[in-house]
Amino acid sequence: MMLVTSNDGKYEEYREIFRENNEELSLFKKKYPEEQLDSLRKVVERSLYYLTGIMQEEFFIDDSGLFIESLNGFPGPYSSYVFKTLGNDGILKLMDKMERRNATFQTVIAFYDSSPHFFAGEVKGTIATSKRGDNGFGFDPIFMPSGSYLTFAEMSRSEKNASSHRANAASQFMAFLKKRKL
Ligand code: IMP
Repeated sequence: MMLVTSNDGKYEEYREIFRENNEELSLFKKKYPEEQLDSLRKVVERSLYYLTGIMQEEFFIDDSGLFIESLNGFPGPYSSYVFKTLGNDGILKLMDKMERRNATFQTVIAFYDSSPHFFAGEVKGTIATSKRGDNGFGFDPIFMPSGSYLTFAEMSRSEKNASSHRANAASQFMAFLKKRKL
């Protein structure tokens, strides 16, 4: 199976999940167009159709976003742009003194064989009051999954994979791939 992404962090997480399922995963490191649309599903659908035009083999992509409740779901599908512009410090500033810190991380996997397939996963959690940890990438230093006092960036890759939005979507994808082999 091949993952198309320019994000090494995503690849490392998927590689571990695939390894645990005795599946091979290769990386096609590529930036592809991501339109600014109002849901992850729409964004990933457009990117998938773009890539089907240039890819010769089966592949999947991942689009993820952080949805903060007290900000009405911001940055959500705009997470990539907001990470580049505001970053974790900007999000923490926006959330300064806010008591309601609930947030959800969501992933949509889009896979194309002879037709498109979509797998959605999420994890609920809270936004920390400061950045903590050096592991992972993106918003990991400020996101704590429910039931944990650690941010994703304070966890090992396998600890993050035990509860993450991405691992959640991936386990449905793995089940689909296993069923397809039968
Ligand atoms: P993308 O559009 O899926 O690449 O991700 C949108 C933004 O969310 C990017 O800035 C990523 O760095 C960030 N992001 C995606 N997945 C994760 C994650 O698992 N943890 C923390 N940040 C993430």
